[in-house]
Amino acid sequence: MKLYVLEKYFSYRLPGQHYYNGVMWNSLVPRERLIQMMTFHVKPDDVIVSGYPKSGNTWLAEIVYLIEHDVDIEKSNSIPLYLRVPHLEGELSDLMINKLDSPRAYKSHLSYAMLPKEAHEKRPKIVHIIRDPHDIAVSYYHFYRSLSQLGNYTGTWDEFLSMFMAGYVCCGDWFQYAEDWWLHRNEANVLIVRYEDMIRDLRTEVLRIADFLRRPLDEEQVSSIVRRTSFNNMKKNPMLNLDGLSDIDRTISPFMRKGEVGDWKNYFSSLQLEAFDKLIPATLREQ
Ligand code: A3P
Repeated sequence: MKLYVLEKYFSYRLPGQHYYNGVMWNSLVPRERLIQMMTFHVKPDDVIVSGYPKSGNTWLAEIVYLIEHDVDIEKSNSIPLYLRVPHLEGELSDLMINKLDSPRAYKSHLSYAMLPKEAHEKRPKIVHIIRDPHDIAVSYYHFYRSLSQLGNYTGTWDEFLSMFMAGYVCCGDWFQYAEDWWLHRNEANVLIVRYEDMIRDLRTEVLRIADFLRRPLDEEQVSSIVRRTSFNNMKKNPMLNLDGLSDIDRTISPFMRKGEVGDWKNYFSSLQLEAFDKLIPATLREQ
């Protein structure tokens, strides 16, 4: 259903809510930025950390940064992650990204088709994270509650889930987004990683990502990345946990919330689960 039609069903509005390319955005990603971003200059040795919000982008971003920078813990400890791996769609991102030395890494919640034009021509490496959408919906619900740019949502879980299922959420419809990315899973410059695999065996996933990025790691480096990016260590690290951002009200829900697989079971009713699963495209059931 068209978003302007959905607006009549849902009373909730994001700060700066607008639509571009059939996707809902907020004040963090103004329309002018989305237009300007199409001509963003991509370098062939850039790495794009990609994924739908709440899929584990922050976790992946730190791992990619460390792999690309010879596991430079000192630098990682002195500069917040959001400055080392900026958000491509953000309003000031060109400034931030252009300050970085190559190899640069930046993160994005865009669909494959919406990436800057040069990303399709220069084909930088893209590490794309996927996660069980039930867990994404729950994580996003709490993020909606805690982040001022998402309006500090005070509605119910039921209402939020309906908005999520309708695609009436910031960065768009997960069901379309995931299907779109899945079509590109076998492209040579795209690596898909699963949040659940990272939870189960982070060491193997770190090695897989390093191999894809052609950055061999020794044993000590792998152990150091695994240690540093465990949920508990990231949660207590001010360079990684986003606690310093005043836009997130940690008393409502911290950014590093639970870091678990299957928390959705505490939220979905059986009716909600049935309705949600019907929306998952057949092509994604193999994920
Ligand atoms: P939960 O809300 O389920 O805890 P994103 O970075 O894409 O916004 O994703 C945020 C989600 O990833 C949150 O999920 C967060 O807790 C989880 N996360 C962040 N770092 C993690 C880590 N090191 N291990 C496991 N989960 C992590």
